[in-house]
Amino acid sequence: MKTDIHDTRLISDFSVSNDDLCRDAILGFCDSPLFHDDENRYEGNFYGRRLRPHIVKHLDFSKPLKTNEIPNYISFAANRILFAMNEVDFLMMPLRDVNPKDFEDRYSNVRISQAYLGMPYLEKFLFSFLDKEIVLSDSWNAKSVEEYFLSYAEQARKLDTTPATEAILSSNQPSVSARDWLIQLAPDFLIESSPMARYAAGNYGKISSSLFKIIIDELGYGEHERKHSSMFEETLISAGLSPEPHKYWQYYLNGSLLLANYYNMITRNRSNIFKYIGAIYQAETGFIRTCSLWRDALRTALPDLDVRYFDEHCHIDIDHSRMAFESLVKVAIESHGKYAAQGIVRGFEEARLVSEIAETDFVTQIKWKDSASINIQKYKDIWPAVRDAYKAGKVRKADLDEPRNELSITHSHDGDELCHVSEGTMEFLNGFQHSTTLERDDGIIIQRNRLHGALIQSDNCKYEIYSIEDINKWL
Ligand SMILES: [Fe+2]
Ligand SMILES: [Fe+2]
Ligand SMILES: [Fe+2]
Repeated sequence: MKTDIHDTRLISDFSVSNDDLCRDAILGFCDSPLFHDDENRYEGNFYGRRLRPHIVKHLDFSKPLKTNEIPNYISFAANRILFAMNEVDFLMMPLRDVNPKDFEDRYSNVRISQAYLGMPYLEKFLFSFLDKEIVLSDSWNAKSVEEYFLSYAEQARKLDTTPATEAILSSNQPSVSARDWLIQLAPDFLIESSPMARYAAGNYGKISSSLFKIIIDELGYGEHERKHSSMFEETLISAGLSPEPHKYWQYYLNGSLLLANYYNMITRNRSNIFKYIGAIYQAETGFIRTCSLWRDALRTALPDLDVRYFDEHCHIDIDHSRMAFESLVKVAIESHGKYAAQGIVRGFEEARLVSEIAETDFVTQIKWKDSASINIQKYKDIWPAVRDAYKAGKVRKADLDEPRNELSITHSHDGDELCHVSEGTMEFLNGFQHSTTLERDDGIIIQRNRLHGALIQSDNCKYEIYSIEDINKWL
């Protein structure tokens, strides 16, 4: 039989349906000293990406997430792993003295194989909700796409505020919130255009050359200082932050990683070209206005900020938006008809929804950080009742006893929790550049889905975590 190809001894299913294969690949990928927990609150190793791998085997990525589960820890864990896996495609090197062992581990053939099995599996897990959230009519054509996209451009121009800028300016510490926002942009901006540049390869007609024009702009025409990621590094330095990618890994929010991973998905698998064209039109068009709103808010919060990155985009994205529309959207629909139009509108809607999720995550995190003293008060109000409920067997608790400098790598919980310190001193990490010191008989309420961590600041520290599920039941 000429179609009888597979040897029965071999694995015949390399698809995302092969749970065992994909799961083994993910667990294998996560098992590296570069990904194991350590004691650094900011990443200490150029190639390090802390994935909390000891937790991963308790997570089941086989059933795609529903929309309401996107903020949960399992999604956060999947996003961290997926981002680190995508990096097998991007060469990252320190300015000097690369560590050969780490370098070779990060780019080993084994890790590349594991990543390529794990990535589509995690993408199915994370992004299937988009198919349910976005239902398109099947009648999109050149004319209706043009009307829809131009009306979007007009609306986008009229924006006079964004949720992120409001959150920054109204927060307790606008300068810290502004830095936090720069950090949330970093997963994307520090490798800006690298996902896009995956489309530099291939043979697919005029749109390939039009896309390449945008790519070379993003890369500063080969001048390193004008490369957009280089300009963003200058922004970080002027804000007093390290430009090293991804120094602040532990403070990337779930939503920020979800957004970066969305762009990775629609650029790595090239059959997503039409979705990508829709997404790039949305991003380049939306960014013209939001870029100037972000610039103004960030400069208000951080007066010495180097804003050349933002200035550059305010003007160049006018060109990019026009190029994306005239030379990508229109040409793709002319060449490939309805199939292209459907993909383009889908990519446009998906990119918009995923960016909204990312921005909402940031806004919620800023509110959570600003509520530290309220959460201490809430702890005081309910602590006796929670302790009694535990004694009556109605609440679960975990007892922890940790030595000095033990770091609980940032994470989140799916329900509200109560943290009570019974001995020693804990630096509770409420989020980026915000800590609360908890001594013996102090405590705090940990809001569900909020990024937090802990660092032990005494010889040892005993603390208890109570799963109270919903704080409102107790108040
Ligand atoms: Fe750019
Ligand atoms: Fe651009
Ligand atoms: Fe926790």
